[in-house]
Amino acid sequence: MIINKPPMGWNSWNTFGWNINEQVVRETADYMVESGLRDAGYEYVVIDDCYALRDRGPDGRIVPDPDKFPSGMKALSDYVHSKGLKFGMYSCAGIMTCAWYPSSYDKEFLDAQTFADWGVDYLKYDFCNFPKTADPRMAYTRMAMALKATGRDIVFSACNWGEFEVEKWIRSAGAHLYRSTGDIGERFSAVLNICNSQYEKMRYSAPGCFNDMDMLIVGMDGVGNVGHPGLCGDTEYKTHFALWCLNGQPLMMGSDVRRLRPEMLKLHTNKDLLRIDQDEECRPPMIAGKVWDNRPSYFKHLSDRQFVLAFFNFADEPGNSDFRPWNIGFPTTAGFGMNLREVFTGEVVGPVNDYMSVDLAPHDCCVFIGEWVAL
Ligand code: GLA
Repeated sequence: MIINKPPMGWNSWNTFGWNINEQVVRETADYMVESGLRDAGYEYVVIDDCYALRDRGPDGRIVPDPDKFPSGMKALSDYVHSKGLKFGMYSCAGIMTCAWYPSSYDKEFLDAQTFADWGVDYLKYDFCNFPKTADPRMAYTRMAMALKATGRDIVFSACNWGEFEVEKWIRSAGAHLYRSTGDIGERFSAVLNICNSQYEKMRYSAPGCFNDMDMLIVGMDGVGNVGHPGLCGDTEYKTHFALWCLNGQPLMMGSDVRRLRPEMLKLHTNKDLLRIDQDEECRPPMIAGKVWDNRPSYFKHLSDRQFVLAFFNFADEPGNSDFRPWNIGFPTTAGFGMNLREVFTGEVVGPVNDYMSVDLAPHDCCVFIGEWVAL
């Protein structure tokens, strides 16, 4: 199975953490259909940690907690599938999961079969409580083999937080995406630290195996497991979402989508940003402006001869971000210019064939999709 585009969907962890249950999953699936999120491309509904009983059953299998999931996982997965969505679950390469539930170390083939029996289409595979004497590459390879051996197509989402230079071996290990950083929280600084840490590593992300900078915090509004009231507003969500799309990231919503404000629903379904995220060429962005001042700009090739020119103000004060054509080797005398359209406002600019500067509020951004035009 090849995954050509970064997966899109929802994951329970950021908001629900320990409080995940069947009703939340069903209502989330319902809402993803009603709201148009599914039709916008969000297809995976993923249950993270904390769904199981602390002990395995007599047959050695993981047992879903009957208080949280009274209908059982197969019925829930059938429900999710009946909505035209795909069903995802979670396990871990260590001896216990991060929240200390049963985990798949040395039980890979049994657990993979259990997930396949439940109709799972996507497995997030964490890294807590991994024996210091064991080999991470072997553990991820083994689970990839186990998933394939079930005969079911299951997206394998590795999550070892970027450790052991994961980007260098995870593609051969058989994963379809790999978490490249520690956990996100609902803080703008976390968004920036995560994103900046991956700039040089984005070259490893391509169809078949994608870099994963963690689930979105867009629209969490301070609620839930990794929520921090008051630390992110609409501007921070906008810039976070734009950065994830610019970097061709998996888009796994982390909010309680049933309670998304209309502005946040609009942001998650911005057609131009999703087009950028899902672009089939999957090219990483490059720096196009000044590299100091915390106000970078990026250029990124897209398919269909289009491109992105995106300007950011990561600083806490207003300021300008700029485009320096020479930084990307664009000759101002080439006889060509850039026709630009901003993806949030629809503003049209151009043709641009020289230095360009954009004033931005703190933490804000603007993102243009561009086309070349003869002057
Ligand atoms: C780790 C992962 C998170 C989440 C939790 C669950 O911290 O990085 O994304 O899955 O475990 O316990």
